[in-house]
Amino acid sequence: MMLKGLVLAGGEGTRLRPFTYSMPKHLIPLLGKAMIEYPICHLVDVGIKDIGIVVGYLGHLIKEYLGDGSRYGARFTYIRQERRLGIAHAIHISIANGFIEGPFVVYLGDNILAHGIEKYVESFITSEPDVYILLCKVKDPSRFGVAIIEDNKIVKLVEKPKQFLSDMAMIGIYFFRDPDLVEKAFSSLKLSWRGEYEITELIQWFIDHGYTVKYDIVTGWWKDVGTPESLLEALYLLLDNVQPRIKGKVEGEVQGRVIVEKGAVIEGKVYGPAYVGRDTYIAKNATIEHYVSVESRSKILSGSVTRSIILNNSTIDLNKARLVDSIIGNHCYVKAKRELYGAIRLAIGDYGILEL
Ligand code: G1P
Repeated sequence: MMLKGLVLAGGEGTRLRPFTYSMPKHLIPLLGKAMIEYPICHLVDVGIKDIGIVVGYLGHLIKEYLGDGSRYGARFTYIRQERRLGIAHAIHISIANGFIEGPFVVYLGDNILAHGIEKYVESFITSEPDVYILLCKVKDPSRFGVAIIEDNKIVKLVEKPKQFLSDMAMIGIYFFRDPDLVEKAFSSLKLSWRGEYEITELIQWFIDHGYTVKYDIVTGWWKDVGTPESLLEALYLLLDNVQPRIKGKVEGEVQGRVIVEKGAVIEGKVYGPAYVGRDTYIAKNATIEHYVSVESRSKILSGSVTRSIILNNSTIDLNKARLVDSIIGNHCYVKAKRELYGAIRLAIGDYGILEL
């Protein structure tokens, strides 16, 4: 069975403002890779090379960044979702415009699954259900679509339940066998209270009409990245799983699980888990403490950084202060103009300048 892939990346990322004023959240880098490259690489890893990318908000930047797919050994087709009418609608337009004509897998561009999707692709191919979804037990089910299961069967799917119905959240990865059935299901949908054609309702149609809807429960970690907190949590999880490697120049001290990319120069201290990106500079008076990612071409001139992400091309010069639980955008400049001590927490969008 040849599967096509569909990666959805049309959303505005409002909860990740100010970072998403100048870039779609899918392009926020995590350990040197844009968020959307995680789902793309998972698809390519299992041999899915024909991938549709549904774009909307700042879609031209996604297209510019990813290109035609040849860099990934894949072929990308960009599909424009003019109006943000939800996941089911994004799937519908990808079928209606002819990109999807057989079995396919949808992967939300802001979902990161620890161990890839190989096991699930195999399971879908061997058992050939009409729909196959993945579930994960969560503490805060009201943020997700949830599945109510009775006798090992899904009986109901509910989007963002206000009251507790189930703690089994639907991961943003969905497999479908027959696009004609999906179109039939879509034509029965109405806009939800949040103005979207919901994926839960699309799949509910399959359940209600007696089609086979199979599920699996994912036990490794999974993250959907929609807020600054979840972006930092995704960073921690990714850093917990990295294999250390040092390609840059270490003249200072590096301890623990650390990646130092090519062109990076470390004169100060780096304590893992941490990621020190390409062509970055950690100066003598700077310390990178645990759970930090300094993405490409950024410079930490002084001070320490803990549990934070510094995006590309930024400069941090904090004297004796500690930057904690922070996200610093691209091309930012943060400088302590006087003796500065203690912890500070910042969320600064691209091109922000802060002199303290
Ligand atoms: C969407 C889906 C939801 C699913 C979640 C996973 O939510 O509607 O069912 O659980 O993705 O990331 P949204 O991103 O629209 O809040």
